[in-house]
Amino acid sequence: MDYDGADIAHVYDKARTLAPEALRFWLSLVARDAAPAPGSTIIDLGCGTGRFSEPLAEHFSARVIGIDPSSKMLEQARQKVQSDRVVFERASAEALPVADASVDLVFMSMIFHHLDDAAGVARECRRVLRDGGHVALRNTTRETDFPKYQFFPAIEPIVARELPPRGRIAELFENAGLRPSVHEIVRQAVAEDWQGYAHKTSLRADSFLSRISDEDFAAGMAALRAHAAQAPAGEAVTEEVDWFVFVA
Ligand SMILES: C[S@@+](CC[C@H](N)C(=O)[O-])C[C@H]1O[C@@H](n2cnc3c(N)ncnc32)[C@H](O)[C@@H]1O
Repeated sequence: MDYDGADIAHVYDKARTLAPEALRFWLSLVARDAAPAPGSTIIDLGCGTGRFSEPLAEHFSARVIGIDPSSKMLEQARQKVQSDRVVFERASAEALPVADASVDLVFMSMIFHHLDDAAGVARECRRVLRDGGHVALRNTTRETDFPKYQFFPAIEPIVARELPPRGRIAELFENAGLRPSVHEIVRQAVAEDWQGYAHKTSLRADSFLSRISDEDFAAGMAALRAHAAQAPAGEAVTEEVDWFVFVA
């Protein structure tokens, strides 16, 4: 999906903030399964507004190249990120502006379903990784259970068309010469309570919600707000995310 053609970049961080403990949790998974040594090079592929770019650089004392084709998303990232360990480049995952065997970790968060040529991207990951380097990927999949379904049924055909089945992700990286090392389904909190979830959702910074009709979106928000009004205070809202690690 072309994020420059959508009205998502300026609200993305507000709508998709990761609580500090959620961010620490994802960094701990990287450390457990794909730890880059200090001084390593990491690509944050499809970095968007850089939600993970600076945390990866600081946590692992690494150099991070954030790569994304959207100038609007990169503009947000450049405004926010302070670290001189991080650089951003405008490019697509299908043609990485990076030399062969020069990277220790390719981190991909929520971009896999946007790729036009996912098989080609898996091959690009293998090309740029040193032997023993990792791809670490977090993405929703077709099998994922996430709370938006019950309020916005209009997203179902888009999800069915665009989200990859779990098995497809594994197959593409294996075909590109990477060895599967980890696959887990992680349940993460996306909001502290339903009111907070309704607020984040109302910002519509989601590639599925941005493409349903305004009427469907309004009906879904009304249903979600009604649910939030009677949900127990402090009930966290969670969703599943698939976590894959492959070794070059
Ligand atoms: C849902 S955002 C995820 C951003 C970031 N990784 C995060 O987790 O916050 C998806 C990002 O993928 C980017 N994207 C779409 N197609 C891409 C491609 N072919 N190569 C690299 N990035 C792509 C979009 O521009 C967008 O910034």
